[in-house]
Amino acid sequence: MRKYGLFILAVVFICFNVKAGTVDSAYLFAYATKANEGRSGLHFAWSRDKAHWQAIGQEYGFLKSDYGRWGSEKRMINPVLFFDKDHRWHCVWSLNNKDGAIAYTESEDLLHWKPQSYYVNEKELVYVSAGKLKVQRSKWQQVTIAEKAETGSLVKLPWSLIDGLIKQVAFSKHRNQLWAETTGEDPVRFASLKPVAITVHPDFSKTKKISNLLFGAFFEDINYAADGGLYAELIQNRDFEYDPADKEGKDAGWNNKKAWSTSGDGIGFTIDSLAPIHPNNKHYAVLSISKPGASLINGGFDGIALKAGAKYKVSLFARILTGGKGTITVRLTDGRGTVYGAAVINALTTSWQKSDAVITVNESISNARLEIIPMINGVLALDMISLFPQQTFKGRTNGMRADLAQTIAELHPRFIRFPGGCVAHGDGIGNIYHWKNTIGPLESRKPQRNLWGYHQSMGLGYYEYFQFCEDIGAAPLPVVAAGVPCQNSGKHGHPLGGQQCGIPLSDMNDYIQEILDLVEWANGAATTKWGKLRAAAGHPEPFSLKYIGIGNEDLISEVFKERFRMIYNAVKKKYPEITVIGTVGPFFEGSDYSEGWKFATQLKVPMVDEHYYVPPGWFIYNQDFYDKYDRAKSKVYVGEYAAHLPGRPSNLETALAEAVHLTALERNGDVVHMSSYAPLLAKEGHTQWRPDLIYFNNTEIKPTTDYYVQQLFGQNAGDEYIPGNIVCSDNDPRVKNRIALSIVKDSATNDVVIKLVNLLPVRVTASLDLDSFKVATSAVTKIILAGRPDAGELKPDRTQGLSLKDIEKIILSPYSFTVLRISGKR
Ligand code: AHR
Repeated sequence: MRKYGLFILAVVFICFNVKAGTVDSAYLFAYATKANEGRSGLHFAWSRDKAHWQAIGQEYGFLKSDYGRWGSEKRMINPVLFFDKDHRWHCVWSLNNKDGAIAYTESEDLLHWKPQSYYVNEKELVYVSAGKLKVQRSKWQQVTIAEKAETGSLVKLPWSLIDGLIKQVAFSKHRNQLWAETTGEDPVRFASLKPVAITVHPDFSKTKKISNLLFGAFFEDINYAADGGLYAELIQNRDFEYDPADKEGKDAGWNNKKAWSTSGDGIGFTIDSLAPIHPNNKHYAVLSISKPGASLINGGFDGIALKAGAKYKVSLFARILTGGKGTITVRLTDGRGTVYGAAVINALTTSWQKSDAVITVNESISNARLEIIPMINGVLALDMISLFPQQTFKGRTNGMRADLAQTIAELHPRFIRFPGGCVAHGDGIGNIYHWKNTIGPLESRKPQRNLWGYHQSMGLGYYEYFQFCEDIGAAPLPVVAAGVPCQNSGKHGHPLGGQQCGIPLSDMNDYIQEILDLVEWANGAATTKWGKLRAAAGHPEPFSLKYIGIGNEDLISEVFKERFRMIYNAVKKKYPEITVIGTVGPFFEGSDYSEGWKFATQLKVPMVDEHYYVPPGWFIYNQDFYDKYDRAKSKVYVGEYAAHLPGRPSNLETALAEAVHLTALERNGDVVHMSSYAPLLAKEGHTQWRPDLIYFNNTEIKPTTDYYVQQLFGQNAGDEYIPGNIVCSDNDPRVKNRIALSIVKDSATNDVVIKLVNLLPVRVTASLDLDSFKVATSAVTKIILAGRPDAGELKPDRTQGLSLKDIEKIILSPYSFTVLRISGKR
């Protein structure tokens, strides 16, 4: 007890002296704890006398290891911190306890750190010699912090620096509290809140042009968004190319036979690769039939959903290996004897031959299976066994699932980004997505492991993406790897993991050519080498590609910069008309964000891709985020964002927080040119990431409340912004920040759209100064999305045929988003 008393006295004494300004220096201790295996990063404690230590923040990480995969890695062990002659702080730490791998970074103020670099061992360290490291390690000390012995580096510092660290923790705590504020679950904060009144005064004299591409969609093959999702193919593993490596060998049932089984006597089922249809599609099924009547069965993706009266095209490649001629009966059944439709395939020969037939289904069923019944006595090879609904989106061959594609189309996205996300740059360089592997005949496409832990057949490839964009009037926005893989890559043969790899410089010319060829494939005449392939696929006219993203939230390392610069310069030189979109890391702050912006500014990259998955409070309290952006620098594509409630699904609250943000994006539509919520799709039961915009299963589509916010912005976008001033009856910033407004005009129709968000638990009466609108119309449509803040699947209500008089004074109900569309037609 006495010990505690003395300690408290000492702390009080130190604090008093510090406060009184008598302490101009103190000791700083830098260490990492064993809690969470070092994943909370570099901690600091301070002391006046080297005996009594005060931790700065609780497990607060001033610097966190960014190495390797989330979950298993990103550890900091035994950090060494020192100040050097170059007036910088240097920090070196071990990444694990196994192989001597080590990380390095530096800082000028202990708060802002450069992107990290990683080395196989300390001898490889570039900025700190092994000798110096040894010296610094010899200075390690042990001190007691909160009764725990900790080992680390001890330095003496001006108090102002330590004070800065303490303030940083306080600031961060305050900031996190603000951002963690939830709306619907805090009855106390708003308990005494009276209904609020606002008046809205638009200022037409300050109208400005804004981007007409502001709202788009982000498509990534995550959560089974492609195979088993948007891609309408109903057969799983149609090409027998599923590979244990897709799941890193962790799933014993995941192999070339996945989703396939046999039924009946006298059938042998093996996989071979001796004489494939195409070298990119090595495996095929070999069936030895001694008793015709047995079947090979595919269960689809969680069953096959069929609709009564609909037609389905079944196709397959077959080759008789031994035995005489025969036919194949193909049936759709429930597995219990009921047949929903059948067809016969006749043309079996001794060389690979593609055959097809159409099956009309007699009754709807959600979980049918496909049965292949070879009517032969012999050995038969089969591959590319496909079942496609004839009714795809816009009737496209090899097209999209109609209901899901329609739901995306109804967002009215002005562009679609594809193929990701992390899928674009892959898990290690061997997993980078190469567009050329995804075009041409299906049997020649090169399937690939999906870094989200499954398989990409590439049936949904670049041609299909571009065509889908065209079908829904969206600009295509392909994103290619910047010559480096995902910054959370696993090892994949490299001692330090994919994160620090880059395509070898000797291969970069080929890689750059691949990107240039993409532009030719999309935009070149049908007579050019690559344009010819597009024409052969059925699209002689160019696709009008205008944007290419290079990189996806990459670590802004030297490896990245070197490769990005090479690609960027080559594209700029050959195709100056293409807008290149660079990348500035996975967060709205931090080293990749600041270094990424610095680098993009140096290179004058026209646009950069920002990402942030944050709590609703971030959107509420950062409405001025882009108001402060330098208009002379790169434009912004907010490529991935969403409001996340920790451990909970999205709901009206997240949707309204996003609506608040989107009004800020419209206001800043002169600097923010594009935005897309992420991820777009998630199949129930196969979801690796939450929340998502649209959930689905084989028969149902379940758009979230957040979806309708996106839809209302997409369907009511404008290209001119009209600043509007809100005068609010309540001056509390927590109240004012929960009301948002934007006014845009669509110059094509002259329609004016007013959007109003109310994230308060009380109603807001909004008086609109409509005289200034000078619109000669009385046709107003009012759309309202409202409900309980925790409601997840709300839909908007629409009232048409209102007059201006009807909206002079309107009530914004608690937790609501209101869109008023004033027709420009006279
Ligand atoms: O949207 C899901 C993932 O989030 C994307 O693949 C990646 O870019 C980001 O980290």
